[in-house]
Amino acid sequence: MKESVMAAYVGNFCKFTLPRIKFLSRVDTYCHYAKSITSAVSQPRKQLVLGIETSCDDTGAAVVNEDGEILGEELQSQHKIHLLHGGIIPPIANRLHAERIVNVVNTALERSGVSLNELDAIATTVKPGLPLSLCVGVQYGKKLALSANKPFIPVHHMEAHALTIRMIEKVEFPFLVLLISGGHSLLVLARTLDDWSIIGKCIDDAPGEALDKGARRLKLRNIPECSSMCGGQAIEYLAREGNPRAFEFPTPMWRYRDCTFSFSGLKYTLKRTIEKLEKEYEIDGGRILPQVKDLCASYQYGITKHLVRQTQKAMVYIETRNLLPKENFTLVVSGGVACNQYIREALSLLCTKMGYKLFYPPPKLCTDNGIMIAWNGMERWKAKSGILYNKDDIEAVGFQSKCPIGEDLTEDVRTLGIKIKSWVKFR
Ligand code: KG4
Ligand code: ZN
Repeated sequence: MKESVMAAYVGNFCKFTLPRIKFLSRVDTYCHYAKSITSAVSQPRKQLVLGIETSCDDTGAAVVNEDGEILGEELQSQHKIHLLHGGIIPPIANRLHAERIVNVVNTALERSGVSLNELDAIATTVKPGLPLSLCVGVQYGKKLALSANKPFIPVHHMEAHALTIRMIEKVEFPFLVLLISGGHSLLVLARTLDDWSIIGKCIDDAPGEALDKGARRLKLRNIPECSSMCGGQAIEYLAREGNPRAFEFPTPMWRYRDCTFSFSGLKYTLKRTIEKLEKEYEIDGGRILPQVKDLCASYQYGITKHLVRQTQKAMVYIETRNLLPKENFTLVVSGGVACNQYIREALSLLCTKMGYKLFYPPPKLCTDNGIMIAWNGMERWKAKSGILYNKDDIEAVGFQSKCPIGEDLTEDVRTLGIKIKSWVKFR
């Protein structure tokens, strides 16, 4: 969608949908408050943050405490509705977020047994994402913070994916993080909570997008076991019984002396191969190609090889520039595509070869959710960084569809002219 059309949509939909948003009833709030007064006598009080996520097609909210315990959460996915339209339709996403957000936040609070008054802060995804999706969470989070007189913490969605692991495991800064999702493919050096550098980024389709579009072209929805799966899940599922070497997919950009990602060539090769086979086997309508499992396995292998090679170059760059302590080389992998077991195993081989420790959150926390936003808020709350207390500052917060996570080191990577002596091998 063109930027101007998008802007018009955002203006209209925010105007029409947001006044319909209601807030937590006072009765609910008082009930939780009364409950907490009695329990507060016996237990030391822990810091509490509510997180709200609406950057794409998931409406999520959660309450976490300072120890990373999830006290309550709710997540409502729009996946099945968008599946019927062959992709995310922003105005539909906007309407569904607006219809669901009150219930999602109330449910997360109810499950946590925490009242709005007991929260220390409210964190909300403000960037990057679909404008029509972001605007719902941003407006609701801000209004909630202002009405309850709570600090507001604006959250960068990709930073939240990167930090989720620290809720579960002891992963100290600095570390390298590979963020792979429906909208991004990024290699980032996380130095501190406020210091991020991009080592590699994507110049076209993200891996999740390439998987989703590939699955659509292969008509995987028509296979009963795959009918409710997202594209990446369906390809991983079918690839288990396929031959990854059955079809040749060119590895993008491995000869380049940088860590840039590009998945459109792989997507195009898949499309051309499917067209050729469909003609040859006279497949039309909703019928599935007999080679579907081999195609899934080969496509997944192509995507994985690209991810692994660019990450290997990033590791060499880091070592040459001395950007991570040698005794503690750490790779974190997160984002929806990080659910993929095959990709995890390939990255695990890479980490063994390069002397890295590998961490990834459990699949439930790799895909979008409110927990990661609440945890990012908690990290910032504990570090006293990026918190807005003042009414005018909170009111001034907007949303951004695009926003780099940090400074871009791509030119420096190129200048260094990385050479790889031996590529990691996987099957
Ligand atoms: O992080 P996420 O939930 O949303 C974005 O921020 O984009 O990622 C969604 C993406 C989708 O493209 C989906 O196909 C992909 O994650 N995904 C997977 C798997 N599960 C979800 N990709 C590969 N293998 C999976 N098992
Ligand atoms: Zn995401």
